Amino acid sequence: MSAGTPFRLAILISGRGSNMSAITRACLAGSIAAQVAVVISDRADAAGLARAAELGIETATVLQPQAAGGSAFERSLAAALDAHQPDVIALAGFMRILSGRFVAHYLGRMLNIHPSLLPAYRGLHTHRRVLEAGDTEHGASVHFVTAELDGGPVVLQSKVAVEPGDTEATLSARVQATEHIIYPRVLGWCAQRRLAWREGAAWLDGRRLQAPIVEDFGAAARN
Ligand code: GAR
Repeated sequence: MSAGTPFRLAILISGRGSNMSAITRACLAGSIAAQVAVVISDRADAAGLARAAELGIETATVLQPQAAGGSAFERSLAAALDAHQPDVIALAGFMRILSGRFVAHYLGRMLNIHPSLLPAYRGLHTHRRVLEAGDTEHGASVHFVTAELDGGPVVLQSKVAVEPGDTEATLSARVQATEHIIYPRVLGWCAQRRLAWREGAAWLDGRRLQAPIVEDFGAAARN
């Protein structure tokens, strides 16, 4: 990208798209110096597609062809992405496991948000597992995507307190509210060229992150 050209984001979704909306609104409001070039879903019925269109963003759907394997899907996905020349690809509730080959192609340019304090609770049903374990803290993590599922270097985490009486619904709603703050923030750092991927690690403002940055929403999230 040359100086002066807008920083381009591609956002991949599978569902509701609340993170996609938060990121897109931050771009439209100018609080992130970037533009959302495209929102791509792997599901035709993803509610987020209509939300993106309402926000004036181009959308695309890349479906898994019935008889074809994952590599055909990934080739179509890469073609749809590359047509928009994104500087960064943001996975936002994109519920597919991507192959090592695909991830390697976009290494250092692809970020994800995961609803847990990684490395705790990789995978699915994080809110339920946190409640079952009786944890007192939970949160979300924005991380670079590597071939290891939910295992790439974490940049920023939001931490919330688990409250007595919390259900999966109340806890996930509180965590999601913080996702809508931390994901745009990290993407803003990318657009400002403050965040970079080097030597297999995340670097912020020229310093290698030795540990994730943690923002504690404990008190705020209780209100
Ligand atoms: C988000 O809470 C995100 O953390 C989670 O899916 C939700 C999507 O919501 N992602 C994962 O679980 C990835 N492993 P949204 O579609 O409303 O942004």
